[in-house]
Amino acid sequence: MTDTVLVVDFGAQYAQLIARRVREAHVYSEIVPSAISAEEVTARAPKAIILSGGPKSVYEVPAPSLDPRIYELGIPVLGICYGAQLMALQLGGEVAHTGAGEYGRTTLTREGTSRLMVEWPDTSTCWMSHGDAIARAPEGFAVTARSLEAPVAVMENATRRLYAVQFHPEVAHTEHGQALLERFLHHVAEIPATWTNTSIIEDQIALIRSQVGEERVLCALSGGVDSAVAAALVTKAVGTQLTCVFVDTGLMRKNEGEQIEETFTRQFGVELIHVKAQDRFFDALAGVVDPERKRKIIGELFIREFEAVARDLGAGGDGPRFLVQGTLYPDVIESGSGHAANIKSHHNVGGLPKDLSFELVEPLRLLFKDEVRHVGEELGLPTEIVWRQPFPGPGLGVRIVGEVTRERAEILRNADHVVVDEIKKAGLYRELWQSFAVLPAVRTVGVMGDGRTYAYPIIIRAVTSDDAMTADWARLPYEVIESIANRLIREVDGVNRVALDVTSKPPGTIEWE
Ligand code: XMP
Repeated sequence: MTDTVLVVDFGAQYAQLIARRVREAHVYSEIVPSAISAEEVTARAPKAIILSGGPKSVYEVPAPSLDPRIYELGIPVLGICYGAQLMALQLGGEVAHTGAGEYGRTTLTREGTSRLMVEWPDTSTCWMSHGDAIARAPEGFAVTARSLEAPVAVMENATRRLYAVQFHPEVAHTEHGQALLERFLHHVAEIPATWTNTSIIEDQIALIRSQVGEERVLCALSGGVDSAVAAALVTKAVGTQLTCVFVDTGLMRKNEGEQIEETFTRQFGVELIHVKAQDRFFDALAGVVDPERKRKIIGELFIREFEAVARDLGAGGDGPRFLVQGTLYPDVIESGSGHAANIKSHHNVGGLPKDLSFELVEPLRLLFKDEVRHVGEELGLPTEIVWRQPFPGPGLGVRIVGEVTRERAEILRNADHVVVDEIKKAGLYRELWQSFAVLPAVRTVGVMGDGRTYAYPIIIRAVTSDDAMTADWARLPYEVIESIANRLIREVDGVNRVALDVTSKPPGTIEWE
């Protein structure tokens, strides 16, 4: 069984970052709710426990607590920020509610010998974010560091294997933060660094094999990273039992279909059904300009197309019984129960009829996005697929303002290719969250050679973001904007003007529709 660290979640996304840092130290981690009992912890047999920070004060009512019997299990525990204060309070120390907190970069001063901070300088920079502070450590704990407003910035009880730090070792601004986590994991808790891409792949292959046995498996490829990596893993596990379906809606990026075929059919030797449904999509979209109606039409038609293939293959009868989904760990956590019941909407297969009930295969449900990309690379997927920027389920359909027609989709596809190509050449593709072209529903006058033109403008949309919830417009270098604009007008028929979108989110959304 994989050595596991449980990260107890006291709220506000801190736990996800800690869990990722633990995995960067090559130790598998899982996030659990703070209501977890000592019995549940024992049943999961973790090698260590980390208590996360949280937005509350331990004195707030209600404030999340921890089953105090967990401290008695002999499992090493590291409390961080809120988790540190909770540990201090629950074990008989004192937490002062003074209001004199510390926020941001803070100087940490060491005292005495420490099991966690080995070979650290006497002072270093750490990241603090606290109002309350531990005023007195519980009996049996040595205080091994302080800061101006935190007299107990680090406390350690080596005998009971309990440790607590007021600062945030998981954030990059803490100078030796990752070293502290690794020290705790590898030395205090004695967990070897064995969680690697190779071990992830081996574990998942074994799991997929035991789940599906000899049965047939179906997978919808969207062109995105998640479905591609999920399909590649299933291919490695049960290659000949897998059928992939790629529905070309006519609203995909340039060469997307060819690349999927090249990768999965020729490189991986998978059975791939390439549904060329462009005409049906364009027919259904004729005359439609309302963004929500477009989305609905595209989503429903996708399901119908997928369903038709599934029925042809005998799903629900003696055909495929399993369906691959690219669900990721953040979706699993956010669904709360630890079981992502909701199928991701952008896979567009959420509304499959009941008589086609599939059992889900979710080989990525334990992974964060960056881990998915690394696994994809290790499985031999091409860089273009693995590092592709996010693309909405309705595809170019939500970037064509007004009516979606074959001609307008072709203009946008060619324009999008130019934007992405120049962004890649400038070395900016990976650092931007998304960069693409938008086709508005107006035409403008221009002059080319001796003639007047009346054609579409293209809008360049490029944003930086961490999670798409908020985004900032990217400050692209003028030279990059210039080369994009020159090429758009020179190379893309039907375009005679280029504009730049300088709206952040909020108030704008990333997509135009
Ligand atoms: P907005 O435009 O709301 O987009 O700022 C946020 C992120 O979600 C993507 N997006 C979608 N993804 N199906 C998807 O799977 C959709 O219908 C959809 N609409 C927007 C968008 O590309 C951005 O990354």
